[in-house]
Amino acid sequence: QTVKLSDYRPTDFDLHAVELTIRLYEGRAAVRAQLSLSRRAGIAATVPLRLDGDELTLTSLALDGEAVASDRYTATSDALIVEDLPESARFALTIETELVPEDNTQLSGLYRSNGIWCTQCEAEGFRRITYFLDRPDVLAPYKVRVEADKAAAPVLLSNGNPVESGDLGDDRHFAVWDDPFNKPSYLFAMVAGDLDAVHEPFTTASGRKVTLGIYTEKGRVHQAAYAMDALKRSMLWDERRFGREYDLDVFNVVAIADFNMGAMENKGLNVFNHKYVLLDPDIATDADYAGVETVIAHEYFHNWTGNRITCRDWFQLCLKEGLTVYRDQEFSADEREQTVQRIGAVRRLKAHQFPEDQGPLQHPVRPSEYREINNFYTATVYDKGAELVRMIATLLGRGDFRKGMDLYFERHDGEATTIEAFIACFEAASGTDLSQFARWYAQAGTPTLTVREAYDPAARRFEVTLRQTLSEGAAGTGTAPMVMPVRFGLVGDNGADGDPAGTVCGDARIADDLIVLTGKSASVTFENQPSRPHLSVLRDFSAPVTLDHDQDAASRLTLARLDPNLFNRWRAASDLVGDALAEAGKDPLGDSTQPLPDAVIDALLASAGDDALDPAFRAQAIALPAEMDIARQIAVKVDPDRVHDAVESARQQIGKKGYPVFERLRKGFDPRAAFSPDAASAGTRALANTALSYLTAATQDPGSALRQYDAATNMTDRMAALAILAHHFPEEPGTATALDDLYRRFEHDDLVLDKWFALQASAPSHDAVEAVARLAEHPHFTLRNPNRVRALVGTFATANQVGFHRPDGVGYQWVADKLADLDTINPQIAARIATTFRAWRSFEPARRQKIETTLRDLRDIKGLSKDLRDIVERSLKQ
Ligand code: ARG
Ligand code: ZN
Repeated sequence: QTVKLSDYRPTDFDLHAVELTIRLYEGRAAVRAQLSLSRRAGIAATVPLRLDGDELTLTSLALDGEAVASDRYTATSDALIVEDLPESARFALTIETELVPEDNTQLSGLYRSNGIWCTQCEAEGFRRITYFLDRPDVLAPYKVRVEADKAAAPVLLSNGNPVESGDLGDDRHFAVWDDPFNKPSYLFAMVAGDLDAVHEPFTTASGRKVTLGIYTEKGRVHQAAYAMDALKRSMLWDERRFGREYDLDVFNVVAIADFNMGAMENKGLNVFNHKYVLLDPDIATDADYAGVETVIAHEYFHNWTGNRITCRDWFQLCLKEGLTVYRDQEFSADEREQTVQRIGAVRRLKAHQFPEDQGPLQHPVRPSEYREINNFYTATVYDKGAELVRMIATLLGRGDFRKGMDLYFERHDGEATTIEAFIACFEAASGTDLSQFARWYAQAGTPTLTVREAYDPAARRFEVTLRQTLSEGAAGTGTAPMVMPVRFGLVGDNGADGDPAGTVCGDARIADDLIVLTGKSASVTFENQPSRPHLSVLRDFSAPVTLDHDQDAASRLTLARLDPNLFNRWRAASDLVGDALAEAGKDPLGDSTQPLPDAVIDALLASAGDDALDPAFRAQAIALPAEMDIARQIAVKVDPDRVHDAVESARQQIGKKGYPVFERLRKGFDPRAAFSPDAASAGTRALANTALSYLTAATQDPGSALRQYDAATNMTDRMAALAILAHHFPEEPGTATALDDLYRRFEHDDLVLDKWFALQASAPSHDAVEAVARLAEHPHFTLRNPNRVRALVGTFATANQVGFHRPDGVGYQWVADKLADLDTINPQIAARIATTFRAWRSFEPARRQKIETTLRDLRDIKGLSKDLRDIVERSLKQ
C-alpha cells in the first residue's frame, strides 16, 4: 500500500497515442478510449498489460478492432489486466467505460458542478474516467471527441487546438480537440456546459497569434476581466523574465464552483475554482484580487514548468510545484512590491510550512514514500520547495540562475524528469557543485540557524559565529549539515549599511553580503569597526530556517526602525512583538495581558507613521503575528486562551499609544475614492483598515466600524469593518444587523456567502462551537461544495483558536463529526482539514489528551477513506 521512490521503474508498455470519445447524457457518460501501445523492448511476452482504474465499470474491450475473449482479461473496478498481447508490434486497445458524473462527489475524475461537466485528473483522477497507465511518466498526444446535448452543453472543450465540430442530429453535437504535445494523463481535461465566455487576442514575442478564453457560469463573465488582464501580464512576464512563450493556438480557462483545489494547469485548458477567477469590487477584497493574479500566473507558468517538462513520478512533485510557486512569487514581486510580497510569502511559510515541518506530518520537500499522494500537495512541497529554488538563485546569482533555467528547458523539454536532472542543469550552467545543497530536498525539518556575536572595542573587531542544527523528526530523514545562504548587513547607528567585507574561519564562504554556511559552524570576523555594528542577518529570509539570534534589545530596536533592508526592518519589529507575546502567553501563572515594552510599541508606530514608506509595508509592519504563530513559538503546553488574551491586550495597548498616529492615517483616507485594484491603492486601504482596527481597540467603541460598514463602496472596506465588528463587538446590536445586511445583499452570490460563513466561523469565542453548529444547519450550508466546507469547518478548525480549542473539547468533537460525514462525500477535503489536529502534542495536558482521543476515535471509524486514514494515522504516530 506504501509507494516508494526507490521502487521506481518504467512501465512494461509504451503508449504512443490516445483517442478519446466522451459521450455525455443526463445521468451518465460513456467513454471510449483507444490506446496505441507496444511492449517495451526486453519485456517478456508473458507479461500482461496492467492498467489502473478507480471505481470503473468496463462495458467493452477490443484489441485491434476485435472483441477480447473474456479469458484473456480481468476487469475489476480498480484494474484492467490484459494477457497475450503482441510481443513487439503496436496494437490498439479500445476500452469502453460507463460513468455517472452526477454521483461523483469526490470531484476527482469526471463530475458535474452546477450542471457543468468537468474533470480533475491530478494526481490520479484519470483512472476514474478510463483504465489507463495513469502515471506522469507515460506521455502521449491526445485527440478528444466530446458529444453532448446542444442545449445542456453548447460549449465543448478539451486540451489543445479545436479541429472539428458539427451536428449529430437529435439536438446533439460534437467537437474534436487535438493536443499535439505529449502529455501525461493528469493534464487531461474536458469541460462541457452552458457557459459564458470572453475572448481576447494575444500575440507572443515570436508572433504566434493566440486566442485567450475565459469561461464562466451564465451571467458572471463580466467578473473575469481582471483574470484576463492578469493572464496577459503573466504571458508577457514569462517571455521577458524566462524567455518562455505559449505554444498552442488557444489558451482556455474555465471557472467552476465545485473544485477541490485552487486551480489546475491542464494543457491549454486550465480549470479553476471560480474563487480564483471571478471578481469585482462589490464582491471581492484586495486579497482576493491578489489571489486571482497569483493563481492565474501560477497555472499559466505551469505550461513550461509542469507541462512541457513534467515529473517522472509523484515523488518529484516539487519539481513542478516548488519551481512554479517560485515563479509566481517572482511575478507578483515584479508586478506589485518586492518587500511586501516577500513578507507575505514568509508569513505563509511560517504559518503553514513550519508547523508541518515541525510535527508528525513532517516530510522532505521530495518525499521518499507515500500512501496517498493527494496528501502530499502540501506547504512543504509547494512553499518550502519554492524556497529551495530561491536559494539556488541566491547561491548562483541572477545570471547563472537564468542560464541554469535555460539549460533545463533545453535539455528536458518534452520529458518527465527528476530533481536530480533539474539540479544538474544549475551545476552545468554555473560550474557549482550542488550535491550538498541537494540535502535540502531529502532532509525533513526546519533547521535552526544560531547566530552569536562578539565585539572587541579595543581591537575594533566584530565577530559573528554561525551554527546550524537540525533535529531528527517524525520523517527520520537525517540531519547532515546543509548549504545555507545567509544574506546580511552591518548597520550603523545612523541606519546605513557598512562594508560587509569579512574573513571566514570554518566551513563557510563569504562574498559581498552573502555568507554561505556549509558545515556545522563557522565564524566571520569584521575588522575596523569603530563601534559595534547592528547585525542584520538572514536578510530577505535567505534560507527557510528558525533563527536563534540572541541580539541585544538596543540593536533589535535600531534595526526595527532603521534597517535599510526593509524585509529585515519588518522582521525585527515583528520578532520583538512575537517574542513579547510568546512570553506573555506562555506562563500559566503570570499575567497574559502584561504591558508590551514601550520601546517595542514605539518601533512599530515609527514604521506605521512614516509617510516615506509604502503603505502596504506599513500595514504589514503593525500587523500582529497570528495566534497560531505565537503558539508555535511557545511550542509546549500551549493554552490558546492565554495566547488570545495576550494578543488582544497588545492590540489595545498599541491602539492607545498609537492613537494620534492612527487618527492621522484615517484622516488621510477617503473611503469614497473610486476603487482600483492596483497594489498601491490596496496598500492604502490595508493601512487605513489596520488603523481602524487599532482605533476601535483603543476606544472599545464600534461606532467608526459601523459607520464604515454602512458607507463602504467596496468589499475590502466592508469586510474590514465587519471583521472588526464580528470579532471584537459580538454583543453590539449593530454587528448582527451588519451581518444580516451582508447576507441579504449577497445571498445570491456564493463567494460572498463563503465570506459570511468564514467570518462567523472565525469569531473568537467559546460560544463559536454553537455558532458554527447552527450555521451548519443553514440552508446555504452544504458538504458538497468544497469552498463552503472550507469557509465554515476549515476556518473554524484553523483560524479560530479560542473556539476550536474550547477547554471542554466540544470544538474538536464537532469538527471530527463533520469530517466523518464529509469523508463519505469528499475524502480529499476531509483529509486536508484533518491536518489541523496534527499539533496536538504542543497543547497543555487537558486539551492535548482531548485531541488525542478525538484522533483515536476518528481512526477507529470503519470504512474511513484512505485519504483521511493516512492523515489521522500519521498524526498519531510517535
Ligand atoms: N497542480 C495543481 C496546482 O498547483 C494542484 C493540484 C492539486 N491536486 C491535488 N490532488 N491536491 O496548481
Ligand atoms: Zn501548481
